[in-house]
Amino acid sequence: MQIKIHPKNTFTIIMTIGFIYLGYLIFFESGDGMPEIDVNLKDVISYAVLAIEMGGHAVMKINEEKNLNAAAKGLTDEGKEELLTRADLISNHLILDILQRFPQLQIVSEEKSSDFSDREVEPYRSDNYAVWQSVKEILDRIPNRRLQLSDVRVFVDPLDATQEFTEGLTEYVTVMACIVLRDEPIFGAIYRPFFNETVFGLKGFGVINSDGKELKLVEEEKTTRKVVVSRSHAGKVKEVVEKVYGDKMSIEPAGGSGYKTLRLLNGTAELYLHTTAIKKWDTCAGDAILRTLGGAMLDLEGEPLKYSVQDPILNKKGLLGTVRNPYTYFKKFEGIKLL
Ligand SMILES: *[C@@H]1O[C@H](CO)[C@@H](O)[C@H](O)[C@H]1NC(C)=O
Ligand SMILES: *[C@@H]1O[C@H](CO)[C@@H](O)[C@H](O)[C@H]1NC(C)=O
Repeated sequence: MQIKIHPKNTFTIIMTIGFIYLGYLIFFESGDGMPEIDVNLKDVISYAVLAIEMGGHAVMKINEEKNLNAAAKGLTDEGKEELLTRADLISNHLILDILQRFPQLQIVSEEKSSDFSDREVEPYRSDNYAVWQSVKEILDRIPNRRLQLSDVRVFVDPLDATQEFTEGLTEYVTVMACIVLRDEPIFGAIYRPFFNETVFGLKGFGVINSDGKELKLVEEEKTTRKVVVSRSHAGKVKEVVEKVYGDKMSIEPAGGSGYKTLRLLNGTAELYLHTTAIKKWDTCAGDAILRTLGGAMLDLEGEPLKYSVQDPILNKKGLLGTVRNPYTYFKKFEGIKLL
């Protein structure tokens, strides 16, 4: 008899061995008190990437059905009505479903676990294996690194730019995951489902696109002299930018923090400004990618955003993001009231 190993079986075997190993670590390696579990960062990244791709596929399927069931979730920090759709909830359900299979992984998500049953979300679940195949080559390139699991948190945004999504402006929609080590975002992935584009950035490794190519920054002189800003407070930022740059810099109102980061990454914008409160799951992935390149997101007091358990999820101090020299940009705005 001949035994053929199909790649699908290999996948299952790897996953199974992974779980058994994790189980072993938890039950046999833990001393007294808090168990000290060691994880490979690459495994956490694989789960996070698989999760957002699954979430993004679901967002697209729901969009095709034209039944978003948008409902107000409450008021935003800007006092506007905040929308929540079936897509947010189902994407979140699928993402948590995958991440929670990773024992004891700490997850920070915009939406709490949903009221949907597994049966209700089943039609939106894509084939794990097929999704894994589409990102496997990239994941294979990620180096191994051991971390202590208790130092790691994963931030997820199951659907960034919900407002724009309900208006049919799908170009702004992203699904994001971010890995925080203590207070620092070290890995970010932004998936743009309607364009099938993903960008991954890992500290000390670099930024790669879904085609597996390393992202090369556009030279400073060739970067478009533009500020991307939220559609809800573009007017105010326009005034400030005129004060600082005169007519040398223009403003573009755009939806989604993930989308605005992507604009910085391909040099079609130079600066991302936000002058009201923003949640950290909206910024974490983009921040991690910018930091990988030598940029960062600073708040409008000039401090890098912090993501530890002690730091609040809501950042009330606005943000300034760039792919390079964030402090130089920050200095230009010093003394001007932005918030
Ligand atoms: C999306 O992109 C990935 C990676 O480039 C590719 O493997 C996959 O086939 C694409 N999916 C679609 C639906 O085009
Ligand atoms: C830059 O990125 C944005 C967002 O992903 C995309 O819409 C745009 O087409 C890109 N432009 C270029 C020139 O790559």
